[in-house]
Amino acid sequence: MKNVNFAVIGCGLMGREFASVSMRWLHLLGDLPRPVILAACDLNDDNLNWFRQVPDTKYFYHDYQEMLRNPEIEAVYCAVPHHLHAKVYCDVIRSGKHLIGEKPFGMDLAAMEQIEAAMAENPNVFVRCASEFPFYPAVQQMVKWYEEGKFGQIIEAKFTIKHSSDMDLKKPINWKRMKAANGEYGCMGDLGIHTQHLPFRLGFVPKTVSAYLANIAKERPDQDGNMVPCETWDNAMVMCGTTNAAGDVFPMQLEMKRMAPGCTNTVEYEIYGLNMSAKFTSDDPNAIRYTQAVGREQAWARLVIGQRTQFPVITGSIFEFGFSDSLLQMFAAFVSELRGLPCAFGCFRPDEAKLSHRLLTAALESHTQRRIVEL
Ligand SMILES: NC(=O)c1ccc[n+]([C@@H]2O[C@H](COP(=O)([O-])OP(=O)(O)OC[C@H]3O[C@@H](n4cnc5c(N)ncnc54)[C@H](O)[C@@H]3O)[C@@H](O)[C@H]2O)c1
Repeated sequence: MKNVNFAVIGCGLMGREFASVSMRWLHLLGDLPRPVILAACDLNDDNLNWFRQVPDTKYFYHDYQEMLRNPEIEAVYCAVPHHLHAKVYCDVIRSGKHLIGEKPFGMDLAAMEQIEAAMAENPNVFVRCASEFPFYPAVQQMVKWYEEGKFGQIIEAKFTIKHSSDMDLKKPINWKRMKAANGEYGCMGDLGIHTQHLPFRLGFVPKTVSAYLANIAKERPDQDGNMVPCETWDNAMVMCGTTNAAGDVFPMQLEMKRMAPGCTNTVEYEIYGLNMSAKFTSDDPNAIRYTQAVGREQAWARLVIGQRTQFPVITGSIFEFGFSDSLLQMFAAFVSELRGLPCAFGCFRPDEAKLSHRLLTAALESHTQRRIVEL
């Protein structure tokens, strides 16, 4: 099947991850169309020039509008700061090119609505939001158990992502810690979708939102060492009254933290049910823990999953799975959905991104007004 000719807008941290994915496509078994990165665009020459080592990349741009006029490009991966999402994503969609845009998919709800309007005008453009953690095989096992009804009535659920590099108060400020570029959501904009893709896809519907947000580091050094205000939320704890298709009513806790001692991008997903409970942590990426009934007691078991991936790979099933593998699976899902190929668990959809924005907007309101907000 024909490869997908891609362009990248934003050649920083995530743009490069995508380049690596596209170059290790042979890691996938089977015959999935490969994302071929024909063009790269960035304002920053160092980041743009990094792409000169990508064998497929033959067009280099500073101006993404000029790039969108290149008829050879079929799809775009956008990994730019949040305040640019609405404008850049809308321009991509209106150029008729398919889009996988990075989270939070618009800096705020108003930005998301602009993207929705562009999508409505261009229904043939395929649009998804990047979110890779649910593609870990151990998380997919959780999905399978949930779909099989193994958990029984849900008691509670918790979805967490925790970092600690901000514990270093000397860490210089960057755009992710500035309201103008990162938005009002702060850490929730950066991290929120990592806590939401799985529960939203399982059909967990938040009905009420109660949030506690913390701005712990109120200033940070700029590039010249001068202390400047750091106004973004560092940590967020969001409690949602939640329902599911079975009619269970339960609390769902979402934690998004930049200041969590000892954590380096630690993702934790936990679902507790009357019949079974399961928990995943990216600190133990190969395994899932689940309960087995022992008479009236419950014992936690650890099941090693290995590389039992949605899209089969050359790696032996005994070897562990990691972050870059999850990105490979996510882009495999994107091109599969784009080309109408089978894909049981797809990328985060725009309607789910809209729900994420409604939830995060409610969390801001809840914290400021000190009340529980109905969704
Ligand atoms: N999925 C994930 O796990 C994950 C992880 C980190 C970041 N992200 C998301 O990816 C996006 C980018 O984050 P990042 O960490 O790669 O940031 P980054 O700062 O490393 O890269 C952003 C790049 O965009 C470029 N840029 C800025 N304005 C531009 C413009 N007008 N045209 C072209 N390029 C422009 C910058 O020069 C920079 O190279 C954000 O939305 C962020 O939330 C996702």
